[in-house]
Amino acid sequence: MSYLDFGIFIPIANNGWIISKSSQYMPSFSLNKEITLKAESYGFDFAFSMVKWRGYGGETQHWDYALESFNLMAGLAAVTNTIDLYASIAIPTIHPAVVAKMAVTIDDISNGRFGINIVSGWNKLEYSQMGLLTDDSYLSYRYEYATEYVQILKMLWQQGRVTYRGRFFELDDCLCQPRPSRDIPIVCAGQSDRGIQFTAELGNYNFVLGELATVSDINLRLKQKAHTYNRTVGTYALFTVVAAATDAEAEARVGDLAENADISAIQAWGGALATDRDGGMAKAMQAEIFMGIPTIIGSYATVAAKLDQLASETTIDGVLFTFPNFVEDITAFGEFVMPLLHCRQQPKNAIAA
Ligand SMILES: Cc1cc2nc3c(=O)[nH]c(=O)nc-3n(C[C@H](O)[C@H](O)[C@H](O)COP(=O)(O)O)c2cc1C
Repeated sequence: MSYLDFGIFIPIANNGWIISKSSQYMPSFSLNKEITLKAESYGFDFAFSMVKWRGYGGETQHWDYALESFNLMAGLAAVTNTIDLYASIAIPTIHPAVVAKMAVTIDDISNGRFGINIVSGWNKLEYSQMGLLTDDSYLSYRYEYATEYVQILKMLWQQGRVTYRGRFFELDDCLCQPRPSRDIPIVCAGQSDRGIQFTAELGNYNFVLGELATVSDINLRLKQKAHTYNRTVGTYALFTVVAAATDAEAEARVGDLAENADISAIQAWGGALATDRDGGMAKAMQAEIFMGIPTIIGSYATVAAKLDQLASETTIDGVLFTFPNFVEDITAFGEFVMPLLHCRQQPKNAIAA
């Protein structure tokens, strides 16, 4: 059994990762601060926020309200002490030299606890509403664009000034000072072969969507690919946990969420997935209230057993969690699930940035 890092996928957009009329709330700094401080107090290793520029409407207006990821993490950096913080950047929207400096700033605020999730961009509507990516061809070369983008980030952080001529970017004695306190970790959530290759070449961790067998398979492919670049890269799996005192109570919570599904928002979300031309996202997800995120449903003991099973039967490096009711559920997880876990008693296997 290996140690699993734990991360919390904080709700930067309204209603988190459940498209249901019975689970509605707005995102705010104070809500995300409360959740992140609780995660920190229970020993979670990192908090992670997504970037979202447009949601899916419907009765719940799912994800039509979202804070901005870097700004939120900068605020959280100032009020936390130990937990690592990852912000997401949608790379078609902003130049890497700007992002390099934004990251250095949060690295400074957090005393070296900051990392970046690279979002190459899959949902066309988020960008076409801004007049960006109106030409569909971007989807076919988005990871080539991401590769150049991250190479520039790394050069700016390592060298402080860069002249560069690439396919997508030109930098002319471009300054990025001060330099960060450490190599800033890069993570990605590519599910396609090309996305996985990108993380193997340039990232530190890749987030995967799937049940145990899929997670295991992608993890092995990622690690083999990383080996060809002489690198070590970790895998984090994403799960929504719906827990309660008994299995029956947990199932009842899911029943209530499903009965109140916001069908029109689910349909809009499914439609957006169809624009992902290379099929990575479409294959990985199913249109459901949980947005295709695999679930762990059951009593606190059942949840703990499933996490220990993941730690025993795979060589993944950690789990990123979402919950229906983040504040109450992370408290219950910290109080009743974490003490039962064997995987958190194992020696930690850190992957260097
Ligand atoms: C944990 C996780 C976080 C993600 N974060 C974002 C995000 O912040 N914004 C976004 O538009 N897409 C996000 N995605 C989608 C991925 O960036 C990626 O495009 C998707 O998983 C499909 O993989 P592919 O690009 O290799 O086809 C996320 C996916 C996962 C599993």
